This record gives sequence, structure tokens and C-alpha cells, in this order.
Amino acid sequence: MGEPQPVLDPLTPAAIFLVATIDEGGEAAVRQLLGEVDELRKSVGFRAPGQGLSCVTSIGSSGWDRLFAGPRPAELHEFPGYRGAVHSCPATPGDLLFHIRSETTGTCYELAMAIATRLRGAVTFVDETSGFRYFEQRDLLGFVDGTANPEGAAAVASVFVGDEDADFAGGSYVIVQKYVHPLDQWNALPVEEQERVIGRTKLSDYELPDDVKPPNSHVTINTIIDLDGTERDVLRANMPFGTVGDGQLGTYYIAYCATPSVTERMLERMFLGTDDAAYDRILDFSTAITGTLFFTPAADFFDDLPDAPAGAEDGPQVTVPEFEPVIEANAAAEKAAATTTA
Ligand code: HEM
Repeated sequence: MGEPQPVLDPLTPAAIFLVATIDEGGEAAVRQLLGEVDELRKSVGFRAPGQGLSCVTSIGSSGWDRLFAGPRPAELHEFPGYRGAVHSCPATPGDLLFHIRSETTGTCYELAMAIATRLRGAVTFVDETSGFRYFEQRDLLGFVDGTANPEGAAAVASVFVGDEDADFAGGSYVIVQKYVHPLDQWNALPVEEQERVIGRTKLSDYELPDDVKPPNSHVTINTIIDLDGTERDVLRANMPFGTVGDGQLGTYYIAYCATPSVTERMLERMFLGTDDAAYDRILDFSTAITGTLFFTPAADFFDDLPDAPAGAEDGPQVTVPEFEPVIEANAAAEKAAATTTA
């Protein structure tokens, strides 16, 4: 198995989720950036010791075919989107996902800017979300989010592709969805009722007993048990995001899994229902506005990229501006100002 990217890194206080589509003719610049992104991470991260800066880079289905010839990850496909009787969620475009995490927004931002500068003219950034830690790892609904994630060996088994697709072992599949919450409606609900929506207690985060937890609670809907009794997990790294003035606030959902089929089963159950529930009741208070599926290759994939498909190196090439680190740029500007005033 190839050395995985830092998918299993713990939740940090800050994250930036950057989603881009590749412009026509931008393939060569994107390939170049993919080969350099870890060096950029090191350049920024080394200057910020102890901040745990990491970046997980993932590639969407149609983007994959534009960037690489040869074998493709067995289960890589476009996110389908789901249309339920009451709630739906869209499939939205995305060829590249950069999941940047750190102790501070500043370092996430610096790396995001380095990536964006390199990609300017080659891609269109279709979504950029800055996630933050609310207190006690709570989402904006006020519930602790991430508790039931798998840990240790169970996390490795749930998250990484193994021998079933040997060319891509150590990789993972990731689904992202941006959900907005109508907080006024949610906050009008008594806490006991909110607890029945989620399936856990609000203050202390204990799972409700089976005879109290309704079949349409979020936890019940997302507990997936195979016929042989094995529970199937995904690794979620959700973050709150948003602006208070316009109410565009919510939960950035991001889940890694060894197969997209587990996350997709959860989504089917949430939106299309189960034998016992019409849909996941969390959806009465959560509206998905994006939805995209990507493959996260193992880290060494980027050291030696597969060949480009025939024709991808031709066509109009974009000129990629040199990356100029802001901190140095500011220092230079300050120096120039000091010289003028002296
Ligand atoms: C559990 C929030 C979307 C899958 C939870 C919990 C919360 C939560 C508070 C309970 C604590 C925990 O174990 O983490 C949210 C919010 C969402 C969201 C605010 C956005 C509206 C989703 C989606 C999926 C999902 C889209 C799947 C596609 C899960 C799973 C669990 C979980 C697997 C753990 C269930 C278990 O106890 O085994 N979520 N979630 N969540 N959620 Fe979500």
C-alpha cells in the first residue's frame, strides 16, 4: 500500500476547502502544480512550526481522464446527487479538491494562496470555504460532530483502498457537501426534540438509548450494518463555516472512505429513506448546496504522475505566474517604505 496522504489527521481549529474545475487547456499547469503541492506545503509549514499544516489533494472523475492516461481508480465516478420525495441534494462540478488543515487560518490561507497563484489561468475556483472550530467540536446546530468516527486500525481499514484495487492502494474516496442551516427554525425547537433529530444528547453527547432514538434520527439513518453484522464507517472531518449577516452558514460535510458506496448508501438512506423512515430528519434543518466526489491518491502518486493522455500536453498552454510568498512580499514592501521615509 502506498503511503497515504494525511487523511487521518485529527480535526484542527481551521481548514480551507478549495474546489476547482480545470479550464480548457489548463491540464499541463494542473499537472505541474500536482507535482509541486507538497513542496509548497513544506515551504509554508516549515515557517509555522507546531501548526500541523497539511493538505490532502483529490481529483474528480472527469478531471482524472483529462489529466492522466492509463488505469483509473476502480470506483471513481461523478457524484450522482439524490432526489427524494421531500429533500434533494445536487451534484456540482469539481475536478480538484484541496483540503487544507492547520491550527490557524493564516497558514491555511497562505498555502491556499500559493496553490491558487500557481493555478491562476488554468482553473476556475468554484467553491472556497473557510471552516472554523466552534467550541467543543460542535457544529452550528450545537451538537458535537465527529464522535463516532472510527479510530486506529478500524479507521485505516474503513478509509484506505487495499488490494482490491492494487494500483490505487493507500488511496481513498472523498465526498464533500456544503449544507446550510436555517438556524432560527432549528433554535426554535426544544432541546429534547433536537436530540431526537440527531440521536444523541446535546450537552453531554451520549447516544440516545435504542428505545428513545427515532428511526428517522441522523444517527440511526447513518448506522450501516452489512448482512454479516459488520458496521461500515466513513471518516468525517466536517467543519462549521459561514457568515452571520446573510445567514449563509452551516456544515461543510467531508467524508473519506475506501469505497464511495458506503457514503452513497448513507446518502440514499438520508434522502430516499429506509423501511422505517421517509428521510433523515436533519434534512428539515440542512440544505445541501454542493455535492462532489473525488479520489484521493496515495502520497507517492504525486512524485511520479502517470503520463498525460494523448493531446493533453498540446493545445493552448497557460502562463503560470511565479508564486510570490506574501510574507516576503510584505517584508519587501515594508523595507521599500522604510527606505523612502529614511
Ligand atoms: C453522526 C452532524 C451530514 C454521516 C453525526 C453526529 C452529528 C452529525 C452531530 C453525531 C455525532 C457523531 O458521531 O459525529 C451532521 C451535520 C450534517 C451531517 C450537521 C450536515 C447537515 C452527514 C452526512 C452523512 C453523515 C451527509 C453521510 C453521508 C454521519 C455518520 C454518523 C454521523 C456515519 C455516525 C453515526 C453513528 O453513530 O454511527 N452527524 N452530519 N452526516 N453522521 Fe452526520
